[in-house]
Amino acid sequence: MSRCLACSAQIEPFIDFGSMPIANHFPTRAGFRDEFFFNLAVARCPSCELVQLVELVESTRMFHDHYAYFSSTSAGMVSHFAAFVDELGPVLEPHSGTRSFVVELGSNDGIMLQHLEAAGHRALGIEPSANVAEVARARGLDTHVAFFTTALAHALREAHGPADAVVGANVLCHVDAIGDVLEGVRSLLAPRGVFCFEDPYLPEILARGAFDQFYEEHVFYFRARSVAKLAARHGLELIDVAPRVVHGGSMRYTLAQAGARAPSPRVAAQLAYETSLGLDTPAPYEALAAKVSRLAVQLRETLEQLRAEGKRVQGYGATAKSSTMINYAKLGPELIESICDVTPAKQGRFSPGAHIPIVPHEQFSANYPDVALLFAWNHATEIFAKERGFEAAGGQWLTYLPEVALGSSGQ
Ligand code: TYD
Repeated sequence: MSRCLACSAQIEPFIDFGSMPIANHFPTRAGFRDEFFFNLAVARCPSCELVQLVELVESTRMFHDHYAYFSSTSAGMVSHFAAFVDELGPVLEPHSGTRSFVVELGSNDGIMLQHLEAAGHRALGIEPSANVAEVARARGLDTHVAFFTTALAHALREAHGPADAVVGANVLCHVDAIGDVLEGVRSLLAPRGVFCFEDPYLPEILARGAFDQFYEEHVFYFRARSVAKLAARHGLELIDVAPRVVHGGSMRYTLAQAGARAPSPRVAAQLAYETSLGLDTPAPYEALAAKVSRLAVQLRETLEQLRAEGKRVQGYGATAKSSTMINYAKLGPELIESICDVTPAKQGRFSPGAHIPIVPHEQFSANYPDVALLFAWNHATEIFAKERGFEAAGGQWLTYLPEVALGSSGQ
């Protein structure tokens, strides 16, 4: 019996994908035999409503000195983080002087730190993957290589004073020791400080059937109800929510020390909305599980049909999330000849588990396939806009969310 990582109640699994590889680990040919597999299953806690993985992968297997994801590879994300910093500004109340001290958890290659510094804040990044942290440091952005813990929070407060804000984008959902992180945040924050973080929003995942958000790095799938309960358990309070379009539909949550700031009416409205979707009952989760099986079969059948027609199919974007779809639907190089990606660290390697070759973007643009399977669907607008030439040359896009569809991007 598995227990909730946040409140220890018994959790209820609703999807089991079976054995899966690490989604952000792109092996070389020599590394195939050492690939690590684990059982990917997702459960809901009926007590605190936190949706979570049943089996965890050790964090040092996922975040290390050759972590493959660099946030700054997407132009859309660069402008998103600029907006995040702009929107944070009015909420900040520097506890001393005029400059706010902002700590970012999971600061990656400094994509947000650079905007924080440019906006005049004192920014410190905490990043466990040394190679991406090094990119930030090389840009002169103060970055500490470590996992954020309560112990580290105490040391940071000692060294730098309290933080006016702790921020995190796509990071909290990765951390299984979530109680320790929230304790750390609470002790690091100044009395009027805020913890502002965003992660994929569970109701959006359910609405799209975006089951490819389920992979080992995403331990938690938050919504306002589960975040409010989690915050309350650690002396914090959910005071605001703001939906954001990134990563297929995210929510930005603002937490403050309990009782320190008045909650926005948006919080109560969001909680009511979630209840109206039936999210406090098992039904929507069971519906997702049924949809997952159907989409995987349909995508595989579509690819087999294209193959039978002699069409060349190339994947677009070696995303971590595509690993779940590729491996669950049992897709391989016999159906998808390669996946193009702009990230040098992924090129020349292979997709996890299925071992589809990953090639530079130039191999897409120099020799368009008949069909591009959009794995980076969260960047669809940006990609469709820049790949008009592909469609002009007769290429078709294959997408699989919210349904399997083959055709033009409509751009
Ligand atoms: P990301 O959005 O982080 O998804 P995940 O968290 O599932 O990995 O990754 C996007 C990937 O797509 C990344 O490897 C970069 C790649 N990419 C391209 O190759 N071309 C593009 O135009 C964009 C926007 C992304």
